[in-house]
Order: sequence, then structure tokens, then C-alpha cells
Amino acid sequence: MNIILLGPPGCGKGTQAKKISEKYGLAHVSTGDLLRKAAAEKTEIGLKAKEYMDKGKLVPDKLVIELMKEKLSDNALLDGFPRTINQALALKNFFDVNVVLNIDVDFRILVKRLTGRRSCACGAVYHIEYNPPEKENVCNKCGSKLYQRDDDREDVVIKRLETYKKETAPLTEYYSEKNKLKTVDGNGSIDETFRKICEILRKTLKAFS
Ligand code: AP5
Repeated sequence: MNIILLGPPGCGKGTQAKKISEKYGLAHVSTGDLLRKAAAEKTEIGLKAKEYMDKGKLVPDKLVIELMKEKLSDNALLDGFPRTINQALALKNFFDVNVVLNIDVDFRILVKRLTGRRSCACGAVYHIEYNPPEKENVCNKCGSKLYQRDDDREDVVIKRLETYKKETAPLTEYYSEKNKLKTVDGNGSIDETFRKICEILRKTLKAFS
């Protein structure tokens, strides 16, 4: 099964992607994680991408499409790709999508989720209020100090949400016209949202079997 996770910054794509990929045995491919890793390793692509990410802008299509072409195989869950119509058009040449899950969350909640997020180098993600670590600012899994992503500062968050509305939101119409889109209310807790997603995936799997 091939899934795309769509939705604004902070809607819970990364959080849900980990749970879905574990339950359904899918490869979790996150463009944000790949780009941040490249930036941390100071590769040419990574350094170029960071300039855009820190401003709340999308990394140019050409660069992201090249990166994704190398990473994709079947039974994958795409988290953060595609994010533009051009990316979606490129993707259909090398990836067959079964379902697009669109996580819908109120704008006000998104800002709170993003500015309160704390991340760990090991990939774990927390929230100071909604999903706090056991020990303040320390990762439960590896004991490292947590950090705030550069693009989770409020000014960049607002910019990212504007970028989403302008460049990524049109994808909901694109996939809806192709009868692939399933919208999930993501305003509730992490577990509530996961339950709703599993229900959709149960029906999707049934339709494909
Ligand atoms: P990326 O890392 O993909 O960022 P994003 O889409 O902005 O999404 P986030 O990771 O910020 O949020 P999320 O939806 O995964 O939420 P999370 O689960 O962490 O991309 C970063 C940048 O890279 C982009 O801005 C762009 O520059 C570039 N980029 C990436 N892909 C690109 C592409 N295809 N093309 C061009 N450029 C690209 O949750 C957020 C917080 O809320 C966490 O603290 C979590 O614990 C908490 N939380 C989650 N769910 C709940 C819940 N239900 N209730 C309460 N708290 C919750």
C-alpha cells in the first residue's frame, strides 16, 4: 500500500506517520527529515535547502523531486511530499498512490503545536504541553538534550502556514478529483486521530483486497 500524508505544518503528519508505518509495515519517507539530515551533514543540497527552510519557504521542486526519486519504493508512506502541483505531477511517473490522507487542524491549534514542539536528534518528537518528555528537555528514548527547530519560531511558523495555503492546499482538490483524498479531523488527541486514520485504512485495504 502506498500512502501520502497531506496537511499543514503541525497537523501531526510526522507523529501519525511513525504510528502508521509501524502498524502497517510501511517505509516512512519524510522530505523534511531528509532535508534536515542533508543540512546537518552540510551537503550541497542540504545547505541550499536550509536557506529556504529557515525562511518558511518551500525548497525548489527540482531539488526535492531529485531527492525523492532516489528514495522511493513500493509500500511507502510519504510525509511532506508532494507539496506542490508540480511535485504531484512528477510523482505520478514513479509512484502509484492508493490513498491520500489529509489531516485537517484549526489554524490556532497549529501555531501552538509548532511553537511548543521539541525535537531530538534521534528522531523523537515531543510537545512541551501535549506530549512532554518524562524529564524536562531530555529525550525519553536516548537521553539527549531536546532542541527547538529553527523553523518552529513563531515568525517562521506564520510564514510556513501562509506558504502551505498558497502552494500546498491546492493539492487537496487535485487528489479529490482523482478520488484519492480522505480527510481526517486532526484536532483531537494523537490517539484519537490515529484511530480515525486506521478506520480509513481498514476500509481502503478492504477495497484493494
Ligand atoms: P517538514 O519537516 O515536513 O515540516 P512541515 O510539513 O511543516 O510539518 P512539521 O514537521 O512541522 O509538522 P507535522 O505535521 O509533521 O507535525 P508533528 O507530527 O511534528 O518540512 C520542513 C521544511 O522542509 C518545509 O517548510 C520546507 O521548507 C521543506 N520541505 C519539506 N518537504 C518539502 C517539499 N516536498 N517541497 C519543498 N520543500 C519541502 O506535530 C507537531 C507538534 O504537535 C509535535 O510537538 C507533536 O508532539 C504535537 N502533536 C501532534 N499531533 C498532536 C495531537 N493530535 N494533539 C496534540 N499535539 C499533537
